[in-house]
Amino acid sequence: MEKAELLYEGKAKKMFATEDKQVIWVEYLDQATALNGVMKDQIQGKGELNNQITSRIFQYLTKKGIDNHFIDILSKTEQLVKKVEVIPLEVVVRNFAAGSFSKRLAVPEGTLLPEPIIEFYYKDDLLDDPFINEAHIAFLELATPAEIQEIKLIALQVNEALQELFAGIDLQLIDFKLEFGRLADGKILLADEISPDTCRLWDSDSHEHMDKDVYRRKIGNLVPVYQEVLTRLNNYSF
Ligand code: C5P
Repeated sequence: MEKAELLYEGKAKKMFATEDKQVIWVEYLDQATALNGVMKDQIQGKGELNNQITSRIFQYLTKKGIDNHFIDILSKTEQLVKKVEVIPLEVVVRNFAAGSFSKRLAVPEGTLLPEPIIEFYYKDDLLDDPFINEAHIAFLELATPAEIQEIKLIALQVNEALQELFAGIDLQLIDFKLEFGRLADGKILLADEISPDTCRLWDSDSHEHMDKDVYRRKIGNLVPVYQEVLTRLNNYSF
């Protein structure tokens, strides 16, 4: 398969068309951003780590019966995915308090939540991705109530599967963000990326941050941390 015209360039990825209208060629970039672009740096090696980590995680989810957009890994920085109509929502699942949840509600980071909590954010850079609820989603016509129920169901299934995966490699899944799209027939499909850029992962023993908080909070180098996550994933058989 050949890479055709550039369709979209985001903060961390470029998307290209292919000869198959249903397939997108994704290239992971070395750029790291945080605080909606306020922090921006080139970090050599980040693109290949996230591409490989995301690919491995989607392969695992496929094996667990959770359908998703991933088709194949092409190179260290490239993968093929199914084309979807993106739903402009960031769906966050939290198992432990951290980040914006801790800040907003004054709950100490690391507090175990009795049940996973799902949150929605409207993907809109100009609005700074505001926190929204299901009534807002309906008002903005981002998704139907039935689609939201489906998204919540899949998000909880992903949470169960990922908790098992990460527990197997001595990482605690604190929280994570998912994105969804619609296939041409309207079916809701898990899309985008699942990596230390989009998950909070704490080492089960030391509780060290093994995710993008290393960059956001300027507490270390991201590359060796992401490499350690990839090595553990590659050593875990499924
Ligand atoms: O910042 P906050 O605590 O709301 O983030 C919750 C989770 O969602 C974290 O795992 C974070 O990495 C992820 N996230 C993301 N992209 C965003 C915002 C949050 O992947 N734009």
